[in-house]
Amino acid sequence: MRKPTRPSKVPPALPPLRILIASSEVHPYSKTGGLADMVAALGKSMARRGHRVGVVTPLYKGLREKFPGITHMDYFMRLPLGSDWVEADVHTLEVQPNLTIYFIHQPGYFDRRGIYSENNIDYPDNAQRFFLLSKAAVHLARYLLWQPQVVHIHDWQTGLIPAFMNHQARHEGWMRPPASLLTIHNLAYQGLFAADAFKLTNLPLQDFSPDGVEFNGLLGCLKSAILSSDAITTVSPRYAREITTPEFGCGLDPLLRHRSKVLRGILNGVDYEEWQTEKNPFIPEPYAVSDLEGKAVCKAELQARMGLPVDPSIPLFGSVTRLADQKGMDILLGALEEMLPSKMQFVLLGSGSPELERHYLSLSQRWPGKVSAQIGYDHGLSHQIEAGADFFLMPSRFEPCGLNQMYSLRYGTIPIVRVTGGLDDSVVDLSEDRQAADGIKFQELSPHVLARAIRKALALFASPDLLNLYRIRAMKADFSWDRTSQEYESVYRQLIEARGL
Ligand code: ADP
Ligand code: GLC
Repeated sequence: MRKPTRPSKVPPALPPLRILIASSEVHPYSKTGGLADMVAALGKSMARRGHRVGVVTPLYKGLREKFPGITHMDYFMRLPLGSDWVEADVHTLEVQPNLTIYFIHQPGYFDRRGIYSENNIDYPDNAQRFFLLSKAAVHLARYLLWQPQVVHIHDWQTGLIPAFMNHQARHEGWMRPPASLLTIHNLAYQGLFAADAFKLTNLPLQDFSPDGVEFNGLLGCLKSAILSSDAITTVSPRYAREITTPEFGCGLDPLLRHRSKVLRGILNGVDYEEWQTEKNPFIPEPYAVSDLEGKAVCKAELQARMGLPVDPSIPLFGSVTRLADQKGMDILLGALEEMLPSKMQFVLLGSGSPELERHYLSLSQRWPGKVSAQIGYDHGLSHQIEAGADFFLMPSRFEPCGLNQMYSLRYGTIPIVRVTGGLDDSVVDLSEDRQAADGIKFQELSPHVLARAIRKALALFASPDLLNLYRIRAMKADFSWDRTSQEYESVYRQLIEARGL
């Protein structure tokens, strides 16, 4: 007689985790760049996986009016900031099951027109503002009833959190503090402050040393985070390797090499509920891989909106970007000078460096009908450019991940990118794989080499069948958050296990 077969063993379901995310920007409440998109999508996808997620961020100006669901929480903090005590309370928003946004309400610091600056000038009290945010997040990590197991911090603005948590664990009786994870979105912004800002941390004097928060005589928030977080991720595998080299390390490469065992790159995902072409309130006509006709309508509307001749036969290039050194937009100026005599159009949406703003405005005056530049920030227009352009230009000097090239791919807008960081990890050039090519890459950071890449784009545009093939491959490329959140989850689990939490 055959033995009865035993039911095959189903692996036990892993317990849900409790994660507190701290960030100075979270879409749709605040945004200056991709950080906001990434944090918002991370929170959503982790909550969807069944984990308990909180996101701590400032209550910036006008949020309560814009999001009436935000409610006052019965939670009050009085936090030391140097010799002062600063009061703050908390407002919350339940975004979806398992996901709560904790808005730190400190109107003196956060009820302002800008997030970090106004008229391109940083607020002089940014140390106070973001140290306070960090202290408030630590307070929540310690006293929230649901007891977070991991605090996940992002960039310099929340960089002092691990140092504060470690201090409270060593000296202030915090028995089982959560593990800490730092995600570096951009090593170039380090949160450096003059040494006298150190008193605002209320940390013991010996912490102002190379083994603590000091970096070359200054207070370094990101440096402190790199040193004192339990683990570090950055937003693409290639950037994780790059930042351990002097070329990309911004002076922190020795420390990153020292911590390389706990450093890894996890490519950002895209929130395809928001960045999509089928149900998108920002674009004039839906389209999909199976029916690309709407894309032509989007192009015509974009040409009209930007004051350019409406003509489907003119290749349209676009850029949506912070006008910062990182983005290589100075190189693009030179490349455009070389290429604009050809049949092409270029639209820009961006703001930042006043000098670059001036250059692009003057370019549009010298090439009316060919170049149109909108200086400023406009969420709706950013979607319209992604949808309406034929090609999307990202000539970055360095790019930790870059979201726009992934958005472009989904919109069937062929990205032209420099081989760096996440741009390299997310776009495939013909020279790498003929069967999978969905973008155009160039290596050398020079106007002439970029002009050559634009010339390749013009050749592609002149072969409609090939262009169509590129578009379809691009739209099918998958950077959904499923993979990204799975990778973060495994990092969280390793940290929690190592801590025995
Ligand atoms: P970074 O975070 O370095 O600026 P990313 O490519 O990761 O670069 O993300 C940039 C994000 O900011 C994208 O969502 C992009 O659409 C948006 N963005 C940048 N500049 C503007 C602008 N002027 N108006 C609207 N959105 C912008
Ligand atoms: C930073 C980087 C960008 C990245 C974004 C989100 O702003 O500059 O490359 O995509 O963060 O992680």
